[in-house]
Amino acid sequence: MPQAKQIVVITGAGISAESGLSTFRDSGGLWEGYDINEVASIDGWRINPEKVLDFYNLRRKQALEAKPNNAHKALADLQNDFDVQIITQNVDDLHEKAGSKNVLHLHGELNKAKSSKVDDYIVDIGSQPIELGDKAADGSQLRPHVVWFGELVPNLEKAAHITSKADILIVIGTSLVVYPAAGLIDYVKQSIPKYIIDPSEPEFRDLSDWNHIKEKAASGTPKLVKKLKDKR
Ligand code: OAD
Repeated sequence: MPQAKQIVVITGAGISAESGLSTFRDSGGLWEGYDINEVASIDGWRINPEKVLDFYNLRRKQALEAKPNNAHKALADLQNDFDVQIITQNVDDLHEKAGSKNVLHLHGELNKAKSSKVDDYIVDIGSQPIELGDKAADGSQLRPHVVWFGELVPNLEKAAHITSKADILIVIGTSLVVYPAAGLIDYVKQSIPKYIIDPSEPEFRDLSDWNHIKEKAASGTPKLVKKLKDKR
């Protein structure tokens, strides 16, 4: 049997928008209501950890209540016909809830906490909040397992390797402005088919050789999945 084609899907906040989770940079997005440096940077954590914990406790609660939409579900269905690897910048678990098996989180996961001293002490916390005074086994304050501005992205190398193997690349719901994640699209082999699903025009990248599906994820993704399956 011939090997299944490898499809790499890079997702951002836009894929979870129709599940009720806010994006960051759209009008009304999270960075309009919060100062990114205060709640999502290592400096912010050092200055006011309680504010950071409150921000992520709220995100965690909202993510728990959210359900995968037709975009997450269509990507899970794509696994039946292709070798699918999802690389997500999202900290929610909606890809997993939909049934996707190969999901690499670039910016961490809300349902995990880690030591504030070492990177490799990570524990599952599910939907529990993290409070000031909650300690890791090494005695340090527990913090969200989220990659903040000013920190390295531990899964970057793995993500770049996966992207370089893609036979088809799909990008869904990301403004492609946050590096190093946004630089992943430069690792693809030349001349593979590339699709981007986003109702807006990506501002900062020349995507002239991409197929732009100018729709919201929950309608655009099932259509693309059907097309790829039919063409197989
Ligand atoms: P952004 O908020 O920057 O971009 C969201 C993208 O989704 C935009 O291009 C929107 O046009 C698009 N969009 C909105 N609604 C959509 C829908 N229903 N269907 C499809 N697309 C839609 O979010 P990200 O690119 O994910 O990092 O942001 C990247 C990183 O910046 C995040 O991981 C986060 C943030 O700061 C950290 O906090 C470390």
